[in-house]
Amino acid sequence: MSEWTLEYHGFDPAQEGLREALCTLGNGYFATRGAAGEAEAGEFHYPGAYLAGGYNRLSTEIAGRVVENEDLVNLPNWLCLTFRPEGGDWFNLMAVELLDYRQCLDIESGVLKRQLFFRDHQGRETTLITQRLVHMAQPHLGAIEWRIRPENWAGRITVRSALDGRVINAGVARYRQLASTHLAPLSADAPGDDTICLQVETRQSKLRIAQAARTRLRVAGQEIEGKRQPVEEAGYIAQEMTFELAAGGEAVVEKIVALHTSRDRAIAEPGFAACQAVARAGAFDELLDSHRRAWQHLWQRCDIGLDGGGRVQMILRLHIFHLLQTVSPHSVDLDVGVPARGLHGEAYRGHIFWDELFIFPFLNYRIPEITRALLRYRYRRLDEARHLARQAGYRGAMYPWQSGSDGREESQQVHLNPKSGRWIPDNSSLQRHVNAAVAYNVWRYYEVTEDREFLAYYGAEMLFEIARFWASAASWNAQRKRYDIRGVMGPDEFHDRYPDAQAPGLDNNTYTNVMAAWVLGRAVNVYDLIGERRRGELNDALALSDREVSQWMSIGQQLFVPFHADGVPSQFEGYEGLQEFDWAGYRERYGDIHRLDRLLEAEGDTVNRYKASKQADVLMLFYLFSAEELGDIFAQLGYPFSGELIPRTIDYYQQRTSHGSTLSRVVTSWVLARADRLQAWELFQQVLQSDIEDSQGGTTPEGIHLGAMAGSVDLIQRGHTGLEIRDGMLRLNPCLPEALGGLHLRLRYRGCWLELDLEGDRLTLTAPESWVGPERVMFRDEIHPFGAGQRLELHYSEEERCWQPNRDCP
Ligand code: BGC
Repeated sequence: MSEWTLEYHGFDPAQEGLREALCTLGNGYFATRGAAGEAEAGEFHYPGAYLAGGYNRLSTEIAGRVVENEDLVNLPNWLCLTFRPEGGDWFNLMAVELLDYRQCLDIESGVLKRQLFFRDHQGRETTLITQRLVHMAQPHLGAIEWRIRPENWAGRITVRSALDGRVINAGVARYRQLASTHLAPLSADAPGDDTICLQVETRQSKLRIAQAARTRLRVAGQEIEGKRQPVEEAGYIAQEMTFELAAGGEAVVEKIVALHTSRDRAIAEPGFAACQAVARAGAFDELLDSHRRAWQHLWQRCDIGLDGGGRVQMILRLHIFHLLQTVSPHSVDLDVGVPARGLHGEAYRGHIFWDELFIFPFLNYRIPEITRALLRYRYRRLDEARHLARQAGYRGAMYPWQSGSDGREESQQVHLNPKSGRWIPDNSSLQRHVNAAVAYNVWRYYEVTEDREFLAYYGAEMLFEIARFWASAASWNAQRKRYDIRGVMGPDEFHDRYPDAQAPGLDNNTYTNVMAAWVLGRAVNVYDLIGERRRGELNDALALSDREVSQWMSIGQQLFVPFHADGVPSQFEGYEGLQEFDWAGYRERYGDIHRLDRLLEAEGDTVNRYKASKQADVLMLFYLFSAEELGDIFAQLGYPFSGELIPRTIDYYQQRTSHGSTLSRVVTSWVLARADRLQAWELFQQVLQSDIEDSQGGTTPEGIHLGAMAGSVDLIQRGHTGLEIRDGMLRLNPCLPEALGGLHLRLRYRGCWLELDLEGDRLTLTAPESWVGPERVMFRDEIHPFGAGQRLELHYSEEERCWQPNRDCP
C-alpha cells in the first residue's frame, strides 16, 4: 500500500458494490462508479454514472398514496466494453477462473486500473490490463484503455464497445418499489467509422443527454481499420470489431467518450457537441497526461501531509479525492449544490442537505470559488425558499431540508423501514436548522475570503431573509418571557415528536434556538457591515427597515434554551423526562444498534420515548463555534455559560448517541479533541473507516458519505491546528494527536497562500512575499506580528497541548 493508492487484491463479488463506490471517478461535472466495463447491473455490479445537477422527477403509488420523488438520474452506461474469442462467450469475470486480480485506484492521478489474469473453460489464458479516467481538465471527457493479451492461445477475437441508455435507477434496494425509469431513448447512430452516438432524454425534466464514443484498436502498434459491425436497439448502440491476435501479442483498445447535455453552455446541440468532442480528443495517453497535470495542480492546493501517516494518510487523501471529484473547479460554472452522497450512488437521490456545513470549511481554505458557486446554488433558490416560508405560514425564506433541481422541498413523505417492511411517515423536513446552516456557511465563507461583493450582493440577502424567517418562527411565551421555536426537529432524526403526540415536531430544540439566535445577531451585524448604499437597496427590495432589524436583535436575545436541572442544555424541551434507553441490553440483543429507531419500530415501540439520539445535536454547537464564540452567544441570550459545562454536556450526550449518522463521530471527535485526545483519535479512526470499511454495513455501496469524508479532513485542517478566523484575525491553537508526528498544509486566506507546518511542539507559519493579509496572527492567546515573506516559528509545551476548559472559556 502506498499513501496514494487504494488497492485490492483478488475479486470478491460481495465487496464489489463498495469498491465501485470507492473507485468512482469524477470531475465535478459528471462521475462514474468504479464498475468493470464488462459488468452489467445486477446482484453484484452497479455501473452508475451521474451528472452534477442531473435530476428527474417521477411519481409512484405507495402505501395508499401517490408520492413524487426527484432523483439524480443514472446516466447511460458509457463504460461498456467487452470481448470474446471466436466461438467463445463474452468475457464474464464470474464465469472464468481468476488466476490473478488486482485493482488499484491511483488517487494522485485519478486513474482506475485493473490487472487480471484468467483461464476460460477452454483453457485459454488471457491477461487483461485496463485503465480509466474521467478527465479533470476537459470535464466532458472520459477515457478507457484495455490491453488484451492471449497468453497461450491465438485466434480471432471480437471487441464490443457500447453506450447503453436502457439503464434505470436501481442502485438502492430500499427504493426499488419506486418508479425508476427516468430515461427515454431519442436516437442512436454511428456518425463516423469509429464513432457511435446515443441520445436520451429524461422523462420529466427533459434534459437531453448525448454520449459519443470513439473506439480505436491497435495490434502490435498498428491501427486496425477493419469493418465494424453495428448493434442497435432502442436506447442502445454498439460496435463490434473482429481481428486476429497471436499468442503473446497484445491488442490495445481505446474508448474515448464525450458527454454533453442540453444544459451545457457554449454548445449548439448536445449530440453535435459530443461527437465533435470525441473527434477532436487526443489519444488515451495524451488525455492521461493532461488529466494527470490537472490533478497535480489540484493536489498542490489541496493535499494535507501527515508525518508517519501511513493508512491514515491514504484514507485522508481518498477523502479529499472524492470531495474534489464531486465538486471541483468545474462546478464554478454550474448551477449545482453538493449532494450528501457525492456523485457516487443513488442514496438520498443525490439531494443536498445541511452537510455543506461539514464540506465547505475544507474548500474555503483552498478553492473558495467552489464554495461561492455552491452558495450561489442556494441564492438562486431564494425565491423558492421564500415560497416555502409563506406556505408554512412564516416570513422570509425557509430553505428545504432536502434540495434538488429547483429548491423545493424534496424530503420524502414516507420511508421504508427495511427491518419491519413498513412505510413510515417521514417528518425530517421539520429540520428547519438547515436554514441556520445556510446562513452560517455564508458567514464562514466571508470570514476566510473577505469577499465583500459576495456578502453584500448575495450573502446579505440570504442572511436577512433567513433572519426574517427565524424571527417569524419565534413566538412570544408570556409566561416565561422568552421566545419559543416550536414544532421542529433537531439534527437528531430519531426524535420527531413527543411520545404520545399525534402531530410531529418538538419544541425549543437547543441547537435550533441557539443557531437562530446566532443568525439573528449576525444578520444585524451584516446589516451594518454592507454599507449605506447596499443597505438602502436591500431595504427597498426586501421592504426591510431599521425597526425590523432591531426586532431581530431583540428576538435573538430572548430565545428560550431549555436546561436540565444540573445545568446541561436539554436537547429539546421535555427531553429530560424521557426514559433512559437500555443501551447494553439492545447491544447484546442486536449487536449493531446504530439504527435503533428501525429496531424499535419493528418491535412496535418508538425511539421517541427514549433519551437516545441518532447523532450529535446539542454537541453541534461546540463543533460550529469556539468556546469564546459560544460564550458570546449565551451571553447575548442572557444565559450563564461556564467552561465546566462543556465536558459535562459532551459526556451526557455521548452516552446517549448511537452515531447512526456518519456525521456524528466527526462532531464528537472534534469536541473531544482537546478534552480527551485518546478518545478523539479513536473516533477519528472510526470516521476514517466509515466508507472505506463501509462501517454502517451496506450504506457506502449506495454512495459515499461526503460530509464525513470532508469532515475528517477538516478535523486535521482546523480541528488539530485550532485554526479559526474571528474578528478578522487568524488564530491558531494547535493540538496534535499523539499518533501524528506532524502535519503540513497550505491554506488560502484572503487570496494568499500560507504554509503551515506542525511538528512535535513546533508550529511554523510562512507567508509568501505577496502576503497582503492582516499584519498579526494569534497563537493561543498571544498576538504576533506577521508580514510578507515572514516565517513565524512558535513553540508550545506538551502541557499546552492539552485543553484547559477554564482557560479556553470566557
Ligand atoms: C443524517 C443527516 C444528513 C443526511 C445526509 C442523515 O442520515 O441524519 O444529518 O444530512 O443523512 O447525509
